[in-house]
Amino acid sequence: MSSKIKIPDAHGHFGPYGGMFVPETLMTPLNELTEEYERAKRDPAFRKELAYYLNEYVGRPTPLYYAARMSEALGTAKIYLKREDLCHTGAHKINNCIGQALLARRMKKNRLIAETGAGQHGVATATVAAMFGMECTVYMGKVDMERQALNVFRMERLGATVAPVTAGQQTLKEAISEAMRDWVTNVRSTHYILGSVLGSHPYPMMVRDFQSVIGREARKQCLKKEGRLPDRLIACVGGGSNAMGLFYAFVDDRDVEMIGVEAGGRGIRGGEHAARFAGGRLGVLQGTKTYVLQDKDGQIQLTHSVSAGLDYAAIGPEHALLRDLKRATYAHVSDKEAVKAVNALCAWEGILPALESAHAVAYVMKQAKTWKKDDIVIINLSGRGDKDVMQIAEWERQQKAGN
Ligand SMILES: Cc1ncc(COP(=O)(O)O)c(C=O)c1O
Repeated sequence: MSSKIKIPDAHGHFGPYGGMFVPETLMTPLNELTEEYERAKRDPAFRKELAYYLNEYVGRPTPLYYAARMSEALGTAKIYLKREDLCHTGAHKINNCIGQALLARRMKKNRLIAETGAGQHGVATATVAAMFGMECTVYMGKVDMERQALNVFRMERLGATVAPVTAGQQTLKEAISEAMRDWVTNVRSTHYILGSVLGSHPYPMMVRDFQSVIGREARKQCLKKEGRLPDRLIACVGGGSNAMGLFYAFVDDRDVEMIGVEAGGRGIRGGEHAARFAGGRLGVLQGTKTYVLQDKDGQIQLTHSVSAGLDYAAIGPEHALLRDLKRATYAHVSDKEAVKAVNALCAWEGILPALESAHAVAYVMKQAKTWKKDDIVIINLSGRGDKDVMQIAEWERQQKAGN
C-alpha cells in the first residue's frame, strides 16, 4: 500500500471499509467538517498552532525509552516504549483533542461534546475545553463511570458535565449514540470530538492524522538511536487510534512488522471479549463499515474487557484494510495476561501502564521468545495506569475469590 495519501477516498472509503453511514441530518455537518479540516490541513497558521500546543501544552515529543530491564528479562529483543503515558493528562488521546478543538474554534463552535470509555478521551476533551474557554459535555456509560471513577472526578473538576448513559450495556457504544444525538440537536454551536479512528468520515482519517505525530516522532527517534528502523511495532487496539497513530508513518516501510492487539477478555466466546478480528464479521456500526461483533441476525453482541478503553464492538475501518492487505496483523491477549503485564512493567521499569496499553506489553511478553536478540521492537505505551488501580484491585480480589 504505497498510496497512503489517497486513503481514504473522498467519501471516506478505506477499500471496502469506512464510509458515511449516518442519518441525513448529519450529512451537512460532516461535510462541513471535512471541508474545514481539508482547509486547515493546508493552512500553515493552523499547522503552526497545532505544533505549538503539542509541544508547549501536551509536552511533545514524548520519549522513545529503551526498556533495558524488560529487554534483559525477556532476553530476545531490544524493546523501546513510546511514552504516550507522559503526555499531559496521561494518554495519547489529547493529541487528537487539541487538533479537533482548534478546528472547532475555526468553525466558531464554542461547545465541545465527546464520548468516553476509559475516561481518558473525556478528560482530554474536558482539558482542552477548559484551556480554550469552551463549554463541555462528556457522555459516559454508567458502568464505565463506576470503573473509571477517578476520571469522572477529573472531568468534573475541569468544568465538564459528565452525562451518565444508562441504555443497553452502559459502556462506550451507548455513549457514542448519546453524543451523536446531542450533536444532531445542537450542531450549530457544538463540535463532536470523536475519540478514536471510528465513526463516519472524516473521523477515521482526521483522528489518524492528528495521532500520526506518534509514529513520525518514533521513526525519527529510532533512526537516531539505532541507525535503522524498528523490526516491529506493537500497539493495543480499541477503536484503533493509538495504533494507527504509531503505524501510519511506517506503512510504506514494508520490512517493519505492525501488530495490533485486541482485548481477548475472558476468552473468544460471544460476550466475553472485544477481539473483533477473532469473533467479528463485516457490518455497520455507528457510521462506519468494518469488522463488528454481532450475532447471526446482525444484532451487536455484548463485549467484555477488563480495560474500558478496549471494550467496543467495532474496530476502525483502516485497520480492517491493513489486515486485508496483510500490512498489519492482529492478535488478542486475555484480561489475565494484561493484568500480569501491568505488574511486570511496574517491576521491570517502574512504569505503571494503563490496562489498555498493558495488552501490547502482554503480547510482547508472550511472543518475545520467537524473536531475535538484536530485533528492535517499539511498544506504544498509550497511557498511564493511575486510573486503573481500583479496577485492578477489584479484578485481583475476584480472582482470589474464584469468580
Ligand atoms: C490509554 C488508552 N489506550 C488505548 C485506548 C484505546 O483507544 P484507541 O484504540 O483509540 O487508541 C484508550 C481508550 O480509552 C486509552 O485510554
